[in-house]
Formats: sequence, C-alpha cells, structure tokens
Amino acid sequence: MIGRSDDVREIATALANGTNLIIAAPRRTGKTSVCDAALGRLRRNRFYTARLDLFRIADAAELAETLALAVIANRSPIHRLVRRAREVGRVALNATQAAAVLKLKSQLGDAVELAITPGWAAQDPERALDLALELPDRVARADGRRMIVFFDEFQEVAGERRPYGNPDAVTKRMRAIFQRSSEVSYLFAGSLEHMMRDLFAPSHRAFSGFGGFHTLRAITVADWSRGLLERFAADDCVKRRSTATRWRWSRRSSRSGACTRTPSRLRARWPIGSRFRSGCRRRFATGC
Ligand SMILES: Nc1ncnc2c1ncn2[C@@H]1O[C@H](COP(=O)(O)OP(=O)(O)OP(=O)(O)O)[C@@H](O)[C@H]1O
Ligand SMILES: [Mg+2]
Repeated sequence: MIGRSDDVREIATALANGTNLIIAAPRRTGKTSVCDAALGRLRRNRFYTARLDLFRIADAAELAETLALAVIANRSPIHRLVRRAREVGRVALNATQAAAVLKLKSQLGDAVELAITPGWAAQDPERALDLALELPDRVARADGRRMIVFFDEFQEVAGERRPYGNPDAVTKRMRAIFQRSSEVSYLFAGSLEHMMRDLFAPSHRAFSGFGGFHTLRAITVADWSRGLLERFAADDCVKRRSTATRWRWSRRSSRSGACTRTPSRLRARWPIGSRFRSGCRRRFATGC
C-alpha cells in the first residue's frame, strides 16, 4: 500500500495491546485495505483474527454463522473438519471426525453447531448471535492466543433495514459480551461517518467509550509519487518525455514509444472515472 505504513503499524500495535479502535472515513479512502493490512501483520505475529463485512451479511442468523466460521477458521485442522461436516453432513463423518466434533463441542459449546450445521442459526437467530459473539473469547482462551475481530461497514447495524434487529438492543447485547471478552480486541470500520460517530460517541449509546477513533493520515504527494512510480515500473512501464512539457508512460518493449494503456495494477485498484485515477492521469500527463 502507498503511504499507509504508519497507520497500519499504529492500528496493529493498539489492537495487540488490547485497545479497541474505530475508523470512520468516507468511501474509497482505504479503510478496508489498512485494516486488512493491520490484521495481516497481527496474523504474522501469531494473533488470531476474524473479519466480517456487514455489507455482505443479510441478517442476524447469517451474522452468527459467518462470525463462528471466521473464528473457527483460525484453527486449521478444525477448520478442515468443519468444512467437511458442512459439505457432507454430520452423519457422514467417520468415527474419528465425529469424535473430534464432540470434543470441540465440549470445549466451545453450542457455538460449534453454528459453524458445522448450515441453517442451525436460523432456528433461533438471537441466541445464535449471542453464542457467536461469545465464541472469539472462548477460542482465544482455549488456545492462549489473543483474537482480533474486525467488523467492516459496522454502521449497517443501525441501517434503515435493521438487518440484525433493533439497533439499540443489538448494540447493547454486543457491548455486554464484548466487555466480558478480555482476550479479544475489536476493530470497527465504516464509511458513513455520521452513523459511526453516532454509534460510538454519544454517552447514551451502548458503545460509548468502547474504543478510540483512529484517523487515517493524509497520504503525502511524495508518497503517492514514489508509490506510483514503483507500480508503473513493476508493470514494466517507463516515463518518457514526448514533448517539452508532456510526459507519457510507455511499455519498455513498445516500439512506437507511446503507451496509452494504464497499467493493469492501477486499472484494478482505481476504476476509470475515480477521483484518484483522473488526478493521477493529470499529474503524470503534465509531469508535475
Ligand atoms: N494507500 C493505498 N495504496 C494503494 N492502493 C490503495 C490505497 N488505499 C486504497 N487503495 C486501493 O483503493 C481501493 C479502495 O480501497 P479500500 O477498499 O480499502 O477503501 P475503503 O475506504 O474501504 O472503500 P469503501 O468505502 O468502498 O469500503 C482499493 O482497490 C485499494 O486497493
Ligand atoms: Mg471498505
């Protein structure tokens, strides 16, 4: 990532030290990328992690199931067993696998059913969600590893559609469970700033004082220039002066010396018409 190393380091350090963080910033400013990078850094340092994108989760039952699966995925052998159980059904497991499921249930409780039996959560979504919210701390304690749970687009909890139930009731239950989960750090990101602030800042909200707001730094022009040059170079493009005042990017191998194509890495990251892409084209076209 370009120019985000300080943010990534600070976020990872705070979470590792048990601080909960909230990142509220406009769309396409790099929230998810920074949080994912921080989680990656923590995973490399042997932390357990789980990430959920609430934009993709339709209701409380799905939230419970997705969270349980993400938490259990930290244990690779168990994760394989869970995948197998979901694919073939409990009854088709062999004796060793069935015994492993029983052992897992005795250790982690009914929350295991959430992961193993598709649709189990839908029978009682409220209870399923409580079980899933408690699971990160259970797994963290059982394995002696700190767990980091990242909720992306967290403002969905208070969305108009109320996907997970009454927002006040859901956030109160979450807060009560998170408060007890001493082996877990939480990271919340959201692109609707006013909703995120309203969930975490006012004193009457359940999440009031639960974490600190982290503000992403502005990326400097120098960082952008260095980062873009590296990416163009990695795409085998070189910067050539085509007139006294204009620069063009061209493929090293291009005979005409003119390359009108935007390198694929940039195309993938910044769609045509995005503010950054137009700014980038302008800057490189004028050579400033
Ligand atoms: N610092 C950066 N360096 C390089 N690419 C970046 C950087 N920040 C963001 N991007 C790219 O910009 C795009 C948007 O980033 P990202 O999805 O992290 O932003 P976001 O704030 O989470 O967006 P949204 O509000 O849509 O969820 C992604 O393709 C990402 O790879
Ligand atoms: Mg995002």
